[in-house]
Amino acid sequence: MNIIVTGASRGIGAAVCRELANSGGHHLFIISRNLKALEKLKTEILELKKQNLVSVLNFDLSNTDTFPTLISQISSATDFIDILINNAGSIIVKNFEDFTPQDIDQQFNVNYIAPAKLIQSILPLLKSAKSPHVVNISSMSGFQGSKKFKGLSHYSASKAAISSLTECLTEEFKNEIAFNALCPGAVQTEMLEEAFPGYKAPLKPKEIAEFIADFALNGHKFFNGKILPVSLSL
Ligand SMILES: NC(=O)c1ccc[n+]([C@@H]2O[C@H](COP(=O)([O-])OP(=O)(O)OC[C@H]3O[C@@H](n4cnc5c(N)ncnc54)[C@H](OP(=O)(O)O)[C@@H]3O)[C@@H](O)[C@H]2O)c1
Repeated sequence: MNIIVTGASRGIGAAVCRELANSGGHHLFIISRNLKALEKLKTEILELKKQNLVSVLNFDLSNTDTFPTLISQISSATDFIDILINNAGSIIVKNFEDFTPQDIDQQFNVNYIAPAKLIQSILPLLKSAKSPHVVNISSMSGFQGSKKFKGLSHYSASKAAISSLTECLTEEFKNEIAFNALCPGAVQTEMLEEAFPGYKAPLKPKEIAEFIADFALNGHKFFNGKILPVSLSL
């Protein structure tokens, strides 16, 4: 399978890449701003000797002006993309009244605009695949009716936006591309540690990555247009 994973340098994204690589025979297109971390992950994946290919794409997804270059690098390596996992995310924890316009742009650029534009930009590559699947990594914090947390107003709203987009695109591209959104609860990553120091999450990145990797490969046979909570709590 040809698979794009955004936010692959660390946390859930890196763990998902390892799980996919373990299943073998994939071409992974891994994206983040951290070239060193991506190169390290590439070496790790290639050492598995499971017939994987890795293309490192060192891009800042909040700068959508560079998307034509990003897309041309992907297109020069493949004619089709089977799976896009929009995992890259950013969290800013602040009281609502303290958010600057730049903070709000940052939250929506990374969590909503970048994945939306990436989907739009690779539509021809997705449509050329046999059974394409887009998995948007949303969050329980943006899931309707879930418990909300102080300081996460724009994070939660941006995640609700990507969930809603998932449903809308399912309608627009029915019978062509499957779209699903996964809404994880807390996972012990650097993002969580930076946002909520000392908080202990019930899941490790590898644990949720096993689920996400399997869902990306097989979930579209059972789900389409779904916003799925992946959480041990309400
Ligand atoms: N951890 C949790 O408890 C939790 C719960 C629910 C949902 N989620 C979601 O799961 C996803 C992964 O979270 P995580 O906990 O693994 O976070 P993380 O450890 O902070 O990893 C975030 C990833 O996103 C990438 N990223 C951020 N901004 C980027 C940008 N402008 N351009 C390109 N890449 C960018 C980072 O790469 P670089 O910094 O190298 O660019 C990094 O690889 C996020 O969408 C998050 O919202 C996490």
